[in-house]
Amino acid sequence: MTNKRNICVALLLTSFFTLHSCKNLNDTVQENDKDFSIQPKGFPSIPFPSDNPYSPSKEKLGRYLFFDKILSKDSTFSCANCHNPRYSFSNNVPNPITINGFPLPRNVASLVNVAYRDKLGWSGVEESLENAIYHDFHSPLFFDNDTNEIFRRLSLHPFYPKMFEESFGVGVKPHPYLAAKAIATFVRSLVSGNSRYDKYLRGDTTALSDKQKYGMKLFFSKKTNCSACHSGFLFTDLQFHNTGTTNHYFDFGRFYVTRNYMDRNKFLTPSLRNVEVTAPYMHDGTYKTLEEVIENYNRGGFPNIHKDSLIRPLNLTQYEKEALVEFLKSLTDWEFLNQTRFRSFGY
Ligand code: HEC
Ligand code: HEC
Repeated sequence: MTNKRNICVALLLTSFFTLHSCKNLNDTVQENDKDFSIQPKGFPSIPFPSDNPYSPSKEKLGRYLFFDKILSKDSTFSCANCHNPRYSFSNNVPNPITINGFPLPRNVASLVNVAYRDKLGWSGVEESLENAIYHDFHSPLFFDNDTNEIFRRLSLHPFYPKMFEESFGVGVKPHPYLAAKAIATFVRSLVSGNSRYDKYLRGDTTALSDKQKYGMKLFFSKKTNCSACHSGFLFTDLQFHNTGTTNHYFDFGRFYVTRNYMDRNKFLTPSLRNVEVTAPYMHDGTYKTLEEVIENYNRGGFPNIHKDSLIRPLNLTQYEKEALVEFLKSLTDWEFLNQTRFRSFGY
């Protein structure tokens, strides 16, 4: 089993190569899509790369393709099978079954605010979204499809050829790499930052309950050190740590990228935005509830030679544990999660 999982993780990781340079696009407001124009106040403008700039038609094409099973070999899978808007673009099982009936060894990562990161997945692979997505079309773990077949299906489709022309220019054919570019544009548009916590920061002191405020203090205190790693507006330092998540690490994490022994069993600090709806938790989906996650931090995690020195017993009272969970729930952005532009696809 261990070998099987490692091979699968290694395969997953081959789907990542280069990094694109990004430039800021100041004006991302769309006339025809009010939902997406709610770029959170205080968030930097969404960095779209210069070779794949934002346009409303491309976001729309990417959105349709994201939810369409047409891209997978036997038309049974779309990105949304694993990245479901209901769960903040993750899903609710620890090991999703792939198109070829194989359980993935990793918990699905949320796609929210990915635009602001240059590292993807739990190992923090540095690859452009475009390349990663194009690779997913062909990977036996994802769509297991063939470039020519995807081209044929898109070309014969009743409305995709027109949408590709609107997005990429008159006469442009629906090439699968352009499909990946459009999906990448949609993924970058998944920006979430209108939670009760954000409203509180913007001056609405009633947005958080007293218990949540107490949990927030704890979260940002030296007593817990949560914010040493879950820092900044994304709630991640974009670094790699071992948090003593489990007694059994089947997954070497960051090691797959650096091949440095010191990086074994370390994982990219996940963002905690919308964490209330992204259960199960951690790289392996080992915890079903936020209460279980807090319980593991409280005991100081499981022993591991790579465990971060910030992870140590916290001696929290029952009320403090509950307050931390309540604070984490204040990071849920229901306005984002309920956007009709993706909820209308029936997920
Ligand atoms: C079979 C389930 C599955 C399907 C289908 C799938 N993904 Fe994923 N996706 C995952 C898993 C698992 C991860 C975490 C991978 C890792 O850590 O290496 C992930 C990670 C990602 C990430 C990195 C997210 C982050 O927070 O770092 C992006 C972006 C992504 N997927 C986009 C897509 C797109 C776009 C599609 C459709 C073309 C897709 N995925 C299809 C399971 C899936
Ligand atoms: C040393 C850095 C570090 C500290 C300190 C830390 N975390 Fe984490 N956190 C991480 C990493 C890394 C992961 C992923 C670990 C894994 O998958 O094995 C994680 C995972 C989580 C998750 C699961 C998120 C998901 O999407 O699966 C939650 C919730 C969480 N941390 C909350 C907290 C809270 C609350 C505290 C304070 C009590 C805290 N963390 C302290 C680095 C840290």
